[in-house]
Amino acid sequence: MSSADTTKIPNSLEEHWMPFTSNRDFKENPRLITEAKGVYLKNHHGKTMIDASSGLFCNPLGHGRKEITNAVTKQLDQLDYVQPFQQGFGGSFELARRIAKHTPGDLNRIFYTICGSTAVETAIKIVIAYHKARGQGQRFRFVGRERAYHGMNIGATSVGGMINNVKTFASILMPGVLHMRHTHLPDHKFVRGQPTTGVEMAEDLERICMNFGSENIAACIVEPVAGSTGTLVPPKGYLKRLREICDKRGIVLIFDEVITGWGRMGSAFASQEFGVTPDVITMAKATTNGVVPMGAVAVKEEIYDTVMDASPKGAVELFHGYTYSGIPIAVAAALSVQDIFEKEDIFKRSKEMSPYFLDGLFSLKDLTVIDNIRGYGMMGGIDIKLKEKPGRAGFECFKACYDVGVNFKATGDCLIIAPQFICEKKHIDEIIEKLRTGISNYMKR
Ligand SMILES: Cc1ncc(COP(=O)(O)O)c(C=O)c1O
Repeated sequence: MSSADTTKIPNSLEEHWMPFTSNRDFKENPRLITEAKGVYLKNHHGKTMIDASSGLFCNPLGHGRKEITNAVTKQLDQLDYVQPFQQGFGGSFELARRIAKHTPGDLNRIFYTICGSTAVETAIKIVIAYHKARGQGQRFRFVGRERAYHGMNIGATSVGGMINNVKTFASILMPGVLHMRHTHLPDHKFVRGQPTTGVEMAEDLERICMNFGSENIAACIVEPVAGSTGTLVPPKGYLKRLREICDKRGIVLIFDEVITGWGRMGSAFASQEFGVTPDVITMAKATTNGVVPMGAVAVKEEIYDTVMDASPKGAVELFHGYTYSGIPIAVAAALSVQDIFEKEDIFKRSKEMSPYFLDGLFSLKDLTVIDNIRGYGMMGGIDIKLKEKPGRAGFECFKACYDVGVNFKATGDCLIIAPQFICEKKHIDEIIEKLRTGISNYMKR
């Protein structure tokens, strides 16, 4: 295989240590993707598969979008790189303006990062800088939530709440982080949309304030809908109650919208969908339709102004940034994505397709191996009954589905289904049909 030909079978699988992968299992029986167009992928056996999770929830506009390819190519030809410290280029300012048009409230100040993890890390640092600037430097604690996924650098791992992601690294995590309980209660089984019970889970934040002193708490970070643990939809009133507690206690509320941002829930951001405006939003993934790494943090104007005003003019106000913060090709891809959002009324399309998708998803309920189904917008989780040890059933089921031509992300024993927004009804039908066949085949094995 030549270095120019990255889609063919490689000469060796050994050197690449793959992320979040059972490397030894994979290398014995690889799953290589060779092509991606629209809602379809092709694997190295030549089999066409439907992409039922928009990659890792990042390609809602479909694969191989010519507009994005052209924008990136043109950008590379004209201006391939600008160092982002003390210099800039017009595109990143235009993109910030376009992003701010969609963010709720006055979350109009946009800081670029490289991915979701660095967006979360940046949000953590901005919050600390903000509290210091307003004379509340004692606020050092962050409150996360069980079953949260916020990414994999130290900050994001610390506020996350998935046991396998934290236990090996316990000794090096951020100090002072506390976790609320997750919101998925036993009576939420097979509940479609927002559960009507469980609002009281938000009182965990109040309890943490009482036990640890709210004056020490910098921020509370939640995914409005927990994505990576399988679409845990917030109970009605839950996010609003978190907002109230944060307001009362001077705590910054961060919504991690790395998955839910850009239409996944049917509105531009889940914040708008659930009618709760946080102080900070993190985003990534669909910002560039997944084709160039990019993340961003949107903060409300008061946070930005406070940090600015705390430094003399001419000084660097925030000692933070990345070599790849808002680089030209990421910006070009993101601007092109913004054009497509507008031209194709993408968020409306997501909202309109959601009921059909959720009908399909919940129609799988009769498969006896399914323990639970949840869903909101264009995202749903299917829990497969535990087999021997956690994760085995989910992985085997994922492989059985892959074999029949439907690809998605499985976390533990949960299959996460998040179709692209450009899907037509026939594509949703195909996803559901293939899920039924794949899960049934798993049951027979
Ligand atoms: C809610 C959330 N935050 C952060 C991240 C981390 O993003 P990245 O993998 O781009 O670092 C993810 C990734 O799935 C996510 O779902």
